[in-house]
Amino acid sequence: MFLGSMMDAAQWVKLSSVSAMSFVDLTTVLVFIVVFLSLLFLNWTPSTDIPGPFALPLVGNLIQFIRMGRKRHIKLMSLHKKYGDVFRMYIGPYLVVFICGYENIHDAFVKHAAQFTNRPSWLRDIERRIKRNGHGLVWANGEHWKKVRRFALHSMRDLGVGKKSIEEVIQDEAKTLTNIFASKENQPITDVKRMMTTSISNVIHHVVFGFRYSHTDEKFQSLIEALDTVFKGPGPIIASLPGFCQIGMGSGVSQRMKAQQVLLEYTKSQIAEHEKTFDENNLRDFIDVYIQAEKQDGESKGKVNQLFRIIMELFAAGTETTGTSLDWAFLYMIINPKIQQKCYEEIKQVVGVDREVRYSDKPSLPYVEATLLEVLRIANIASSSVPHTATEDVDIAGHRIPKDSIVLGFLSTSHLDAKNFCQPREFRPERFIDDVTGKVCKKDQLIPFSTGPRICPGESLAKTEMFLVFSNLVQKFRFCKVSETDEFDLEGLTGITTFACPYRLKVEIR
Ligand code: HEM
Repeated sequence: MFLGSMMDAAQWVKLSSVSAMSFVDLTTVLVFIVVFLSLLFLNWTPSTDIPGPFALPLVGNLIQFIRMGRKRHIKLMSLHKKYGDVFRMYIGPYLVVFICGYENIHDAFVKHAAQFTNRPSWLRDIERRIKRNGHGLVWANGEHWKKVRRFALHSMRDLGVGKKSIEEVIQDEAKTLTNIFASKENQPITDVKRMMTTSISNVIHHVVFGFRYSHTDEKFQSLIEALDTVFKGPGPIIASLPGFCQIGMGSGVSQRMKAQQVLLEYTKSQIAEHEKTFDENNLRDFIDVYIQAEKQDGESKGKVNQLFRIIMELFAAGTETTGTSLDWAFLYMIINPKIQQKCYEEIKQVVGVDREVRYSDKPSLPYVEATLLEVLRIANIASSSVPHTATEDVDIAGHRIPKDSIVLGFLSTSHLDAKNFCQPREFRPERFIDDVTGKVCKKDQLIPFSTGPRICPGESLAKTEMFLVFSNLVQKFRFCKVSETDEFDLEGLTGITTFACPYRLKVEIR
C-alpha cells in the first residue's frame, strides 16, 4: 500500500509538474500575446491627451460604446457635457475624436478643410469594399473623390434635381401616399416611416434607373428588403475591428452578403438593359449619364462594380435620412396640433385646396419651410458627420487632434446649444422666421447636412422631397394621436440615422 502510495505520489508529482509546465507555458503564451497586441495597439493608435472616458488596453472604450446601444446619441451628449467640446473614445485601436459646437466644427471642417476633408479609407472594412467595388464617392479621397462628387452633383442637376422634372416624380409619390393615407382614415397607422422610406427610395430609383415602381410590386418590395439588410451593418469603424471584437454584435455578415448579391444582380441587369437601349441624345437617368461620361473619358474598366457602388451609396445616403426626417415631421405634427394647423392655414391661404402644392409655392409658405427646418434641427437625424480623418496634427479648441485620428463633427451639439437656439428642446418653427420681414431666416448654426467640402450633396433633393411630401399631405389630412393618452418618446433611437421611437397616428381627411 505504501509502495502503492509512493507510486501515486511520484505519479502525482510527475503529472502536476507536467501540468504546472503547461500552465507556465500557457501563461507565457498569453502574456506574450497580450504584450504583443498591446505594442501593436500602441503602435497603431495615435496617442493623445484629449479628454475622454477611461480606456482599457486593446479594446479601448469599445465595450462602453457597444453598451450605449440605441441611446448612443444621448450617451455621447453626456460625454460632451462631461469632457467638453473636444473629447475622444478609443474604438479598439482607433482614436475617435468628437468635435462639438458650431464654431469648432466650422473651424475644423471649413477653416481647416485641407486637413480634415479626407475619409479614413484605410479602415479595413473600407479597404475591403474598395477592393471589391472601387472607391465610390462617400469613402473616396483626393482627386478621385472630387471627380466623382462633381459628376454626381452635375448629373443630379442635369436629371432634374431642383427642376420641374424631379418635381413630377415626387408629386406622384405624394399622390400615392395620399391614396394610402386616405384608405386608412381613422385607423391606427404604425408604419409611417416605412411608407416614407418606400416613397423616397422610389424617387432615387427613378433618378438612377429611370422609372418608379408601384409600392406593392413584389420586386420592389424585395429590393427594399435587400437595401434594408445591407444598410443595417455595424458601421465601418466596428466592422474594421478584428472578428473577436464583433462577437455578439449580430452583424449578420452572411445575410448582408446575400442581400448585396441580390442588389448587384439587379443593378447589373439594369446596366445591361441601359447599354442596349442607350441613346446619347436622350439621357434618361443616372446610368445613362454615367455610360456617356465613360464613353467620353474612354474608360470602361470596372464599370459595373464602380457604378454599383455609387448607386448603393446614393440609396444608402439618400433614403433613410430623408424618410426618417419625414417620419419625425409627422410625429412633431401630432404632438403640436397648433403648429400643424398653422401650416395648414398657410397652405390653404396661399395655394388653396383645389390644386397640389408646388415647389414654386415654397417662397410663399415660410411657416411650412420654417417647420421643416425646425424638424431638421430638433430631430438630429444625422447626429454626427460621416467619419473624417486628420491628415496632419491640427489644434482645435485648444486640443491637438493627432494625424490619422478619426474625426466626427458632432452636429447635434450645435442644434441643441442654447447659445445658438434659445430653449433648444422646444419645437418652435418661429425661430426661423424673421420678425420684421416675416420671411424665413437661415441660421449658420443649423448644419444637419454638415459643413465644408464634404457637406451633403443631396441637400437640395432632400429639401425638395421633404417640402413636397409634407405640404401636400398636410393640405389633405389632419394628423392626430390615436388616443389622447398616447405617450411619445422624443429622444429617438440610434440606428443608421437617429430615428423616431415607433409611434402610431391616425388621419382625418380635411
Ligand atoms: C434629410 C436628409 C439628409 C441628411 C440629414 C443628410 C446628411 C448628411 C450628412 C451629415 C453627411 C456627412 C457629411 C460629412 O461627413 O461631413 C452626408 C453625406 C452625404 N450625403 Fe446626405 N443627407 C441627407 C440626404 C441625402 C440625399 C437625398 C442624398 C443623395 C441622393 C445624400 C447623399 C449624400 C452623400 C453622397 C454623402 C457623402 C458626401 C461626400 O462624402 O462627399 N444625402 N449627408
